[in-house]
Amino acid sequence: MKVDIITIFPEIFDFYLSQSLISKAQKKGVLKIKAHQLRDFTTDKHQTVDDKPFGGGRGMVLKVEPILKAIQLLEKFQETRNKKQTNSKFKIKNSKIILFSPRGKKFNQKMAHDWAKQDQLIFICGRYEAIDERVAKNLATDIVSIGDYVLMGGELPALVAIESVARLLPGAVGNSEALIGERITNKGGFVEYPQYTRPEVVEIKGKKARVPKVLLSGNHKEIEKWRAKNSKIIL
Ligand code: ADE
Repeated sequence: MKVDIITIFPEIFDFYLSQSLISKAQKKGVLKIKAHQLRDFTTDKHQTVDDKPFGGGRGMVLKVEPILKAIQLLEKFQETRNKKQTNSKFKIKNSKIILFSPRGKKFNQKMAHDWAKQDQLIFICGRYEAIDERVAKNLATDIVSIGDYVLMGGELPALVAIESVARLLPGAVGNSEALIGERITNKGGFVEYPQYTRPEVVEIKGKKARVPKVLLSGNHKEIEKWRAKNSKIIL
C-alpha cells in the first residue's frame, strides 16, 4: 500500500512514522508512506497555498490548485500501474482521496478495514480556517472526521488513520501478531479487555492497587469469563 499525505507540515509525519512498528512495516515493504509539502505544488514565487475567502469573512482559505496539482502527480503511480495491468488509461482502481474535516463521516474500524484493502490512500490535511470547497466537492472521494471536536488541522487525523489501517495490513505487526490473534473474535473484530502485569500489588496515592484475583487463579475458564464480562468488542 502507498500512502501519500498532502500537508504544509510534512515534518510532523517524519518523526512519528520513523518510530516503532510503523517504521518496521515500511522497512518490510508492507506499506510506503510519504508526506508531501503542499508548497512544492505551487507555481508562484512565494509558494502561496492560501487566499482570502470570496464573499468576505475572517481567516484564510487553502487554495484548490496546489491540491489539484498534488493529486494529479500522486495519482500517476496508480495510472501507470493500471495502464500496464488493464490498459484502462485513466481508471484508478483501489484508491481513495481522503479529506479530513470535522464535517466528514465519522472514522471507525469498519472504515479502517475498507481502507486497508486499497492500493493507495491520498490524505489531504487542511489547515487555516478552511479549504476551498471544490476540494471536497470535486476531488475527494471521502470526507472524514475523527470525532466531534475541532482540531487545528488534518495532520493528527491522518496519523490516527495511518495507525489504525497499518496494523490491519498482513505482515505489519510482526511478533505481536500472535498476541493480537488471540484477541480477534470470530467476526474479525478486536476484543479489548483490561490487562495487568507484575507486580501484583502496588501502592498508589496511599492505597493498595491490586490485580483482580481471578487473573492470578490459573483458572482459565474463570479468566475467560471475567475477560468476556469486561470486554469491549470493536468490529
Ligand atoms: N480537522 C479539524 N478537526 C478535525 C476532526 N475532528 N477530524 C478530522 N479532521 C479535522
